[in-house]
Amino acid sequence: MRLSVIGCGYLGAVHAAAMASLGHEVVGVDTDSAKVERLARGEPPFFEPGLEALLKRSEQNGSLEFTTDIAAIADAEVHFICVGTPQLPDALGADLTALVGAVEAMVPVIAPGSVVVGKSTVPVGTARRVAERVAAAGATLVWNPEFLREGHAVHDTLQPDRIVYGVDTLAEAKAQGGAVGIVDGVYRTMLEGGAPRLVMSYESAELVKTAANSYLALRVSFINAISDLADASGADVLEVAAALRLDDRIGRLFLNPGLGFGGGCLPKDLHALAARAGELGVMDTAALLAAANQVNETRRPRVKALAARALGGVLAGRRIAVLGLSFKPLSDDVRNSQSALLADDLVAAGAVVTATDPAAVGLARVSHPGLRYADTVGEAVADAELIILATEWQEYRDLDPGELAGWTRARTLIDARCVIDSARWSTAGWTVLAPGRPASVPGGSAP
Ligand code: UGA
Repeated sequence: MRLSVIGCGYLGAVHAAAMASLGHEVVGVDTDSAKVERLARGEPPFFEPGLEALLKRSEQNGSLEFTTDIAAIADAEVHFICVGTPQLPDALGADLTALVGAVEAMVPVIAPGSVVVGKSTVPVGTARRVAERVAAAGATLVWNPEFLREGHAVHDTLQPDRIVYGVDTLAEAKAQGGAVGIVDGVYRTMLEGGAPRLVMSYESAELVKTAANSYLALRVSFINAISDLADASGADVLEVAAALRLDDRIGRLFLNPGLGFGGGCLPKDLHALAARAGELGVMDTAALLAAANQVNETRRPRVKALAARALGGVLAGRRIAVLGLSFKPLSDDVRNSQSALLADDLVAAGAVVTATDPAAVGLARVSHPGLRYADTVGEAVADAELIILATEWQEYRDLDPGELAGWTRARTLIDARCVIDSARWSTAGWTVLAPGRPASVPGGSAP
């Protein structure tokens, strides 16, 4: 099938490459010419495992192209809207400027009978307005939210755990040869592979996406709230989490305590859903979501307090190494990264922070200019008095305490993500501090 993808950021670039890999002819459109040029050369404009290989393979087959020219979408049967919907600069809601711009640019170009598929994350109530606009061009809208995770985007796009279609009416969903059938054709490989497909109203489909991200945020904040109780009572949050995970009703994932959630999605979607709940007058829901955000906002101050405790109460003038800047491992994304923001907080308190990251140093230099940067762990810790493991990249989790001790005079590590085997580290002579966990000191007892 001939497809277009409007907006080639994390979502669109991966979606375009993945659809081409399924055998479709895909044209990706973005207003950013530098991004388009990179994608056209087969270079991902961001760090995403597996994307480069997928881009190169599809471009060599001639089934994938990128352009800034919206007219190139004219002969596509299906148009995917993948533009960003960031948080508004001065409010909690989502900024729909790029979405409205994309729809207005498409409408004069697309053919009657084509299908427009909305994948961007939007406040509930948006799709119905978009549907009216695309109907003016004789096209039909299906709302098909995306659930891909950065760092696993290629896998999540090609092997989705569910495919959701939001439609105007159930009659439309059942119509033979209608929009739903056409989108089924695009996803045939995944559907034949067993991906569950759910057809529902526009409003439900929009809400599925923001509810999913908000629930993940609630879980992270819940375990972090329990972490505060562990600190107050002498419990160990990791022991609590390990037992909680064995309850099938609770489940294993998204119960890792530490610095809290960040990135380009969970924080803004939680805010946007809280704002929308407020607009709709559903105040208890707004309050629940606001509380999850409040717990998240207190993570960095807690780790900063641990750093002050480790340094005898004074941060000003002290040298701290921060390992990890991206909002999570396997990503170079520093948007709303709690790790990079923590480093800034320490600098604001007068500390001299040298930070490193396997992938994110380039982007962090631009958005966090107050930090010093190092290319390697050895360089970052060389003159440090304290080391903070801020983003749990595997290579930091695998650090050898004996080897690290040879590179630095520091003997205290703050494990801000609660991923270190603290007994092993304290046996090797380190003091390990982690939020929600008793301190682990050489010799075994807490200070
Ligand atoms: C999130 C969702 O997981 C995806 O399903 C969704 O499609 C995507 O947003 C989106 O809306 O586009 P992503 O932003 O890539 O994906 O990140 P997550 O893997 O969800 O992690 C979010 C944050 O939560 C990270 O900062 C991570 O460190 C933190 N986290 C996660 C924890 O602190 N504890 C956990 O147990 C899990």
